[in-house]
Amino acid sequence: MKIFSAPLILPLVLLTGYAAKSQTNLPPITLKEAFQNDFVIGAAINASVIWEKNAAEVALVKRQFNSISPENVLKWESVHPEPGIYDFQAADRYVQFGLANKMFIVGHNLIWHHQTPDWVFRDNSGNFVDRNTLLGRMRDHIFTVAGRYRGKINGWDVVNEAVDENGELRDSPWRKIIGDDYIAKAYEFAHEADPQAQLYYNDFDLESRRKQKGAIALIKQLQAQGVKITGVGLQEHDTLKQPSSRRVDQTISTFEKLGLKVMITELDVNVLPSPTKRLDAEVSRNFQSSPKWDPYTNGLPDPVQRQLARRYADLFSVFLKHRECISRVTFWGVTDGDSWLNTYPIRGRTDYPLLFDRAGKGKPAFEAVLKIAQSQKVAANTSREESSAAHY
Ligand code: G3I
Repeated sequence: MKIFSAPLILPLVLLTGYAAKSQTNLPPITLKEAFQNDFVIGAAINASVIWEKNAAEVALVKRQFNSISPENVLKWESVHPEPGIYDFQAADRYVQFGLANKMFIVGHNLIWHHQTPDWVFRDNSGNFVDRNTLLGRMRDHIFTVAGRYRGKINGWDVVNEAVDENGELRDSPWRKIIGDDYIAKAYEFAHEADPQAQLYYNDFDLESRRKQKGAIALIKQLQAQGVKITGVGLQEHDTLKQPSSRRVDQTISTFEKLGLKVMITELDVNVLPSPTKRLDAEVSRNFQSSPKWDPYTNGLPDPVQRQLARRYADLFSVFLKHRECISRVTFWGVTDGDSWLNTYPIRGRTDYPLLFDRAGKGKPAFEAVLKIAQSQKVAANTSREESSAAHY
């Protein structure tokens, strides 16, 4: 049960004691236990976890998380690589893994402009197909994929990253061929394919003003049309400083006002210097490698480790403040070694964006996140004791 929203200041004060040696003995709780009254805690899992290639990592996922997202195995190119050919081997394993471990299972994603094969948009001569043909392909894909996991996958990222940085709809082949209503159609098909599933809009950089405005306009329009949309996914591919936790706080409040569940769907914190000022997850961009962009190949220096722990603590303070509307917080990966950030936007770097190191050991950031959860409980108990004392 969600009892209260604690002020941000208390966790930050408690965190100051975090570095002291005498206070590093944490209770043996896990992430999913620490936040069990707040939200589910998820991780995106890759093919190696799904196929149980690394027993220690699989055990870590089972122990720490009660929700999973498929990093790649449910994307169009994975399940539907060629016309009429579906390959559900990995996706079935993924769903089975979630069911066997009683996890909240996320479907990612149905409609996106990346990792969708070019054939989807073209005819035999290589020209764009017409609107009706593409709508037919979209319907077939959504019915086949969402229909197969009806009653098993709990929520779908139906449309992923449809809004551009300027707040306009991204001019993807979906939009070029079908028109703006491709988005409403995708939600209608998904709802028909699995009426019980939660249906989300998922995007990155929703803290940026223009993009946020565009996403709000899109969601309001869908709502006005009576299209079922249950939640918005804020990806939160963050850096040590950007976006500020205050801005994340405001962003969650803004989407909460639309009457939607809010989810943090792809959380990670990039600690490496960036060759670009843009904060996004635009996977089509890549830069040349150079040692100045890859400074921590021999390990993360303590000051940066502490900065990462503080950053995660601040973010989780914000998430806990919004525990009434946040239903899930999902990390984009399990250990640092898994992260897509080791390959983006420069290939072959060594990043440290998650709570578990390359050996699967909890980092100071992991302890800081547990400590925040714990401090909220102390605050909740204190406030309960104070209010019952006031009765006498
Ligand atoms: O499938 C090939 C495989 O055959 C080949 O052996 C291998 C060799 O490198 O590459 C494989 O494809 C890679 C794929 O991940 C599977 O590992 C692609 O090159 C690589 O580009 C792809 O990256 C994924 C990226 O989405 C692509 O768009 C990342 O793993 C995945 O973490 C990332 O996730 C996205 C979310 O879906 C949406 N939000 C942003 C987020 C981060 O970009």
